[in-house]
Amino acid sequence: MQRLRQSRPAIVGTGAYLPAKVLRNSDLERMVETSDSWIVERTGIRERRIAAEKECPSDMGAAAALMALERAGLAPNDLDLIIVATTTPDTLFPSTACHIQQKIGARKIPAFDLQAACSGFLYGLVMAYHMVALGTYPTVLVVGAEKLSSIVNWSDRNTCVLFGDGAGAVIVQQSTQGGQMIAHDLGSDGSQGQVLTVPAGGSRLPLTPENIGEGLQFIQMAGKKVFRLAIDAMETTARNCLKKAALQPEEVGYVIPHQANMRIIELLSERLHLPLKRFFTHLERYGNTSAACIPIALHEALTAGDIRPMEKVLLIAFGGGLTWASALLEW
Ligand code: UT7
Repeated sequence: MQRLRQSRPAIVGTGAYLPAKVLRNSDLERMVETSDSWIVERTGIRERRIAAEKECPSDMGAAAALMALERAGLAPNDLDLIIVATTTPDTLFPSTACHIQQKIGARKIPAFDLQAACSGFLYGLVMAYHMVALGTYPTVLVVGAEKLSSIVNWSDRNTCVLFGDGAGAVIVQQSTQGGQMIAHDLGSDGSQGQVLTVPAGGSRLPLTPENIGEGLQFIQMAGKKVFRLAIDAMETTARNCLKKAALQPEEVGYVIPHQANMRIIELLSERLHLPLKRFFTHLERYGNTSAACIPIALHEALTAGDIRPMEKVLLIAFGGGLTWASALLEW
């Protein structure tokens, strides 16, 4: 029998949107000097989704948001706040959150973007939980939406095989049901920012023909270094989060890690002494969708019935900045 829970901020609805176009490893073999076997062995990725030319993060985010609202039994009018995590906003401003406010027909509520690269969704989720707990904004929409295909250099094999597009969304409200947050841990280290960056397009290096000629508007990544930093940061933030919850890793029933590389997930499972079968993955189908991957994964795991009642679910993210984040939820 389930014990009764107190009313607390909880995820009461989830949604996801993936663009229709599938880009397979075999397609990439025709674009750059790579092979399906290299990509699968080194990353675990087999295919990724690519947004249509005119399809923006706000279109994908709005679709995911409407699904999350419907699954929560709510309407856009019920929302009090919109937080959007994205590294690939539709426009520098207005924010993608404002575009989504308009596209879903929400009231004239506050809406803003949050930039913490791949950790952005968990940063937004933690903000939402606090806003709901305070009572100032009782119903919050948190979206992770990315069109990474727009900042990928399609002639750079080091990065173009890794990323994909998509969006996920959750609704946070007071509830006695599952999806309550027990603990979280957020962090950053700006001193390592250069290992994963899009150098041009901001005010430091505005877009000029010279910068564009050098490809500085695209993702630049020191892959091996990021790999090592990602494992250390993800292990540390997971342990910090569990310590705050006074739990041991083995008490976690389900883990949703950032979907960058299967080898990172395998090493994380070893380091946390948690069986790999408890880790959700979809990177084989979608690649790395940055801020969108955790809400998409959560939606998929819930709709597949993979998360059982009262199960402790650990979400772990890592991204450019550097940034990292983890959240422990109870379902
Ligand atoms: O979301 C943010 C977090 N991002 C991450 O966590 C990504 C972390 N990094 C990684 O996942 C991996 O470092 C990569 C998948 C990016 C690269 O894997 P790696 O095992 O670290 O390979 P590498 O960069 O050391 O490259 C090994 C070799 C190189 O050739 P040489 O110099 O040994 O001759 C590369 O040029 O593999 C080559 N290579 C490729 N070969 C075929 C690099 N990319 C490719 C490719 N196809 N796509």
